[in-house]
Amino acid sequence: MSNKKRILITGAAGFIGSNLSRSLLQNGNYELIGFDNFDDFYSREQKDKNLAPLLASSDFQFVEGDIRNMDDLFSLGDIDVIVHLAAKAGVRPSIQNPILYQEVNVAGTQNLLEFARKRNIKQFVFASSSSVYGINENVPWHEEEKLMPISPYASTKLSCEMLGHVYSHLYGIRFLALRFFTVYGPAQRPDLAIHKFFNSIIKGQPIPVFGDGTTSRDYTFVNDTVKGIEAAINYDQSDFEIINLGNHQTVTLAGLIEAIEKICGKQAIIDRQPEQPGDVPQTFANIGKAGKLLNYHPSTDLETGLRAFYDWYLKNNS
Ligand SMILES: NC(=O)c1ccc[n+]([C@@H]2O[C@H](COP(=O)([O-])OP(=O)(O)OC[C@H]3O[C@@H](n4cnc5c(N)ncnc54)[C@H](O)[C@@H]3O)[C@@H](O)[C@H]2O)c1
Repeated sequence: MSNKKRILITGAAGFIGSNLSRSLLQNGNYELIGFDNFDDFYSREQKDKNLAPLLASSDFQFVEGDIRNMDDLFSLGDIDVIVHLAAKAGVRPSIQNPILYQEVNVAGTQNLLEFARKRNIKQFVFASSSSVYGINENVPWHEEEKLMPISPYASTKLSCEMLGHVYSHLYGIRFLALRFFTVYGPAQRPDLAIHKFFNSIIKGQPIPVFGDGTTSRDYTFVNDTVKGIEAAINYDQSDFEIINLGNHQTVTLAGLIEAIEKICGKQAIIDRQPEQPGDVPQTFANIGKAGKLLNYHPSTDLETGLRAFYDWYLKNNS
C-alpha cells in the first residue's frame, strides 16, 4: 500500500483548488481526491480547463459531488486530511442570496465535519477569509483582532471557524482555519477585480470602479497561498488554529489599475460607481503567526504575480 498522504480537496475544480492540486501533485507525496459540484457561479468550461492537467496524473482522482449531500461524501475512499475549499464565494452575491450561502458554506462545512468525525479523519484545513475582520480599522489585522463582518459571506466563514472549534474540542479533529486575503493568479475567478480589470482593459471596455479608488487590498499570489495550505496539511503542533495567509502589502484600487494598465500597455476606461454594500474599505494582514507556525513567507511581488495572471489569461482567451 502507498504511504502517500490521501487528501480530499473540496472545490478542486476552482481557482485555488486547482492551483493547490497541481502543486501537491508536483510534490509527489500525496494522493488527491478532488471533489466539486461545478457550481454555476462561473462557467463549467473554466473549471474543466482547470481540471484537465490534473486528471492526467495517476495520483489524482476526481469525484463530482455536492458537500450538501452526505451520500456523495460517504462514497469517497480513504482520506487522511480534508482541505475544504468548496464554497459559495463572493461578497456581493451573498447579499442577494444569504440563505443559499448559509446552506452551502455553513451546513456544507458541518456535513464535512460530521463526515470527518464518522470516518475518523483527524486533520481539517478550512478556507476562511479576511472578510471576517470586516470594518475593523486597526490594521494590520492580527488573528486576535475584533471581528466586525459586514456581509452574509463573511458571517458564514466566521460560523465555520466556530464549528471547527466545536469539532476540534469534542472529537480531537485538528482544525486549521486559514484566512485568505484576496488571492490572485492563473485561473483566478472571473468575478474578482484583477480578472475583470484585465479582461475589460484588453477588450477596450469600461471597468466599473466602486468608490474613489482609495480602497485597498492585501493581494496574495496564489502560489504563496498554496504553500501556506500545504504547510497546514502537515502541521501537527496544536489542535485548533486560526491563521492569516496574506501578503502584508497593501495596494489601493487606483494603484492596482495603474499596474494592470502598465502590463497591458493600455489605458483603462473608468466607469466610476458608488461604493458597494458589503465591501470593506481595506484589508491588511499581520502574517507573523503564519511565519511562526507554518514557515509561511510570501515572496511574490504584485508585478510578477500580475504578469503570471496575464500570461495565463492570454493562453486561455486566444
Ligand atoms: N479567492 C479569494 O481571494 C478568496 C479569499 C478568501 C477566501 N476564499 C475562499 O477560498 C475558497 C476557494 O475560493 P476560490 O476563489 O478558489 O473559489 P472558486 O469558486 O474558484 O472555487 C470554489 C469551488 O467550490 C465548488 N463548489 C461550490 N459549491 C459546492 C458544493 N455545494 N459542493 C461541492 N463543490 C462546490 C465550485 O464549483 C468551485 O469550483 C472558498 O472557500 C473561498 O470562500 C477565497
